[in-house]
Amino acid sequence: MSKILVRTGPSLALIKYWGKADIATNLPATSSLAITLEELYTETAVTLSDKDTVHIEGLLSAPEHYKPFFDNLKKKMQVNCCFEAKSYSNFPAAAGLASSSSGFAALAFACAKLIDKEASLDLISELARVGSASAARALFGGFTILEREAAHAEPLFGKEHWPALRVIVATVKTDAKKISSRKAMELARTTSPYFPSWVKESETLFQEGVEALKQRDLARLGPLMRKSYLMMFSTMFTSSPPVLYWEPESLSLIKECEELRSEGFAAWETMDAGPQVKIFCLAEESTPLLQRLKTRFPQLQFLLAQAGDGARIL
Ligand code: PMV
Repeated sequence: MSKILVRTGPSLALIKYWGKADIATNLPATSSLAITLEELYTETAVTLSDKDTVHIEGLLSAPEHYKPFFDNLKKKMQVNCCFEAKSYSNFPAAAGLASSSSGFAALAFACAKLIDKEASLDLISELARVGSASAARALFGGFTILEREAAHAEPLFGKEHWPALRVIVATVKTDAKKISSRKAMELARTTSPYFPSWVKESETLFQEGVEALKQRDLARLGPLMRKSYLMMFSTMFTSSPPVLYWEPESLSLIKECEELRSEGFAAWETMDAGPQVKIFCLAEESTPLLQRLKTRFPQLQFLLAQAGDGARIL
C-alpha cells in the first residue's frame, strides 16, 4: 500500500485528563472517561515521503510539533521511512473542540496501518498518546477510558451501550486558542496550588463516572462531569499566569444549563481547553433543548452528536 485515507471522530471527555505524570512520554496524571463522537470527524491521507510533513486544512504545520510523535512511531514500528500527511476536519481545529484528539488519532492510525495492516489498536493508541493523550482514546469507538499513567486507552463500551445519549456542541468561538492545552496543563501542574487535589479527586470522579455510565444514569453522571470540568478549570484559574479559555457566552451557556435543569431537563454541560460548551442530554429531550438554545443564543452554532465508531480506513 502506498497511500491510505482514514477517518476518526474526536474524543470528548466526561471525566477529564488534565496534566502529565511524565512530560517526556506524555503519560496522563489523571484517569479520563470519554465518548468518541460520530458527527464531527477528521480525515487524514498519508503517503510515504522523504521528509515528515503534516498539512492541516492545507497549511503546513510546524515540524517540531510532530517530531516526538514521528520519532517514537518509527522507533516502535522499527522503520526509518518518512510520511506526508494531509488532514481535514469538518469542525474548527485548535478551538477546544478536541481536534487534537481526532487529529493525532487519525495520523497515528494512518501511518501505522500504512506500514503494517495488522498493527493493533492498542499499539496505535500508544503511538497517538505521544502526540496528544486524548488522541489515545479516539482510536476506539463508543465509550473509552485512559487510566492515569497508562500507555494506551481501552474501549469500555461500544456505541450501542447508550443509544439515547446525545451531545449538543455549542460553538462559541472558532478562533484557534492562544495557549495550547499542552502548555496550559504544564502551567497548571507547575504553578497551581490546586493541582495535587485535582489529581487526587479525579480518581474518585473517574471511578464513580464509570459506574454511572455503566448504569446509563445521566442524573448521577451529570454532576460528576460537572465537578470534573470545573475542578480542571480551577487549576487553570489558579495558575501563574492564569489561563482563561472562557468567553462571556461560555458562562451564559453554563447558566442556561442550570436553568434548564431547574425546569426538569437533563442538560449537563462540559468544557475543554477552549470556550466551546458541550451539553449532554437524552435523545427525547434533544429537540426542545436545541430549539430553546437556538432561540436564546441565535448568534451561536449548535450541532447534535452521538457516540460513534472508532478509527477506520476509508
Ligand atoms: O490531549 P490534549 O493535549 O488535547 O488534552 C486535552 C485535554 C482535555 O480536552 C481538556 C480533556 C480531555 O480529557 O480530553
